[in-house]
Amino acid sequence: MNIVVIGAQWGDEGKGKIVDYLAEGAQIVIRFSGGANAGHTIQADGKTYKLHLIPSGIVHPDKISILGTGMVIDPQALFDELDALEKQGISWQGRLWISDRAHLVLPSYKALDKAMEARRARPLGTTGRGIGVSYAMKAQRDGLRLADLYGSIYETLSAEDRAFLEPYRARLKELTIDLPTFMAGNKSKRKLFEGAQGVLLDLDLGTYPFVSSGSSAAAGASLGSGVGPKELDKIYGVFKAYSTRVGNGPFPSEFTPERDGNLGEVIRELGREYGVTTGRPRRCGYLDLVALRYACVTNSIDALVLTHPDIYDGFDEVKVCVAYEIDSERTEVFPSSADDLEKARPVLKSFPGWKSSLTECRRFEDIPNRARDYMSFIEEYTGTPIHIVSVGPGRDQTFFQQEPWTSQ
Ligand code: GDP
Ligand code: IMO
Ligand code: MG
Repeated sequence: MNIVVIGAQWGDEGKGKIVDYLAEGAQIVIRFSGGANAGHTIQADGKTYKLHLIPSGIVHPDKISILGTGMVIDPQALFDELDALEKQGISWQGRLWISDRAHLVLPSYKALDKAMEARRARPLGTTGRGIGVSYAMKAQRDGLRLADLYGSIYETLSAEDRAFLEPYRARLKELTIDLPTFMAGNKSKRKLFEGAQGVLLDLDLGTYPFVSSGSSAAAGASLGSGVGPKELDKIYGVFKAYSTRVGNGPFPSEFTPERDGNLGEVIRELGREYGVTTGRPRRCGYLDLVALRYACVTNSIDALVLTHPDIYDGFDEVKVCVAYEIDSERTEVFPSSADDLEKARPVLKSFPGWKSSLTECRRFEDIPNRARDYMSFIEEYTGTPIHIVSVGPGRDQTFFQQEPWTSQ
């Protein structure tokens, strides 16, 4: 049985926490997209782990972690992260492997990423980790894969690139595997596919050009992990009770001071909405159901995972965006054009707040009726059930309505 976990918004939905939770029932966890632009947080056993490249299964001592083909890997960031994990008491030797078809990020890519961003008429707000350049090099067929570090392609690299790579070559060789062969040999195991970023940052489905460059959508789990699409048994879309976005680009339901007063700052402080990778304050807004339904439909999301509803615990009312107004026309269709998305004004629907602490809930039955009404509306609007709820950052603050490792 295989489960895919993707972000259903603009990233930072709590994927790391949910993958850590689901990893309990998995044997292998595979990260299938993105690079060190991601920041996945796990709080467990009194410690906080901030992962960028390493799959969120690593915190469980008996799980195998794989960096998949769809990733772009900066070797320096990789070994720095592994060293940091070791300092936190996580041993990874013998249970962490990397697809030899994954691409590498070189220092020159990071420099170019920043230089191109500086030249853009409309900057994207990239993390500057060389991600876009690495995926562009891959598509251009000038990229460098881990498999290419030991043959004729390596010889064609500049002296500078070789000097950078030399200290990592032997260490990487010990970690690389032929992922399709590995996956074929582990067909019967329970595998968990971990996405990075979110559907709205996906290169094909997201708010282009204000996107990242990997395939963060569910379909990316197949190509990015060396398995066919029929191997993906269940797809979970993780979403927050509100929306956030780091970096630039359209955000129709973003809080505005004129309409919403200081709601943006209040949510940012309550939710500690600051980027894990860059420390940048995240932009905050209402839960956007137009965008969430789009994510459900385009990714065959079987069930949703709700995170951060606890942030609304003290609120008198909780609003969600149910449609956009674009040039005075109401629509529930998620537009393809960044210009239309910029123009879109959210049509809001209000729910009475539940005014009680969800953080103590440990079962679906513990959720107060008002919060359940709010959740039922989301399920109805998106046509997708909510199977898992997270009510705080801790591992124990997660529970399910439907047992995850079953085919329903
Ligand atoms: P990811 O990129 O999707 O893995 O998410 P991040 O780690 O970037 O951001 C999510 C943040 O919210 C982290 O600091 C988590 O510890 C925290 N978090 C996750 N789930 C919940 C939740 O249900 N409630 C609250 N209050 N915080 C949560
Ligand atoms: P996780 O996995 C939120 C955003 C950047 C920028 C855009 C392009 O933690 O959810 P890039 O460096 O990829 O060229 O940046 O994408 N971005 C993310 N935002 N969460 C992420 O990852 C992100 N990864 C990239 O802020 O707007
Ligand atoms: Mg994150």
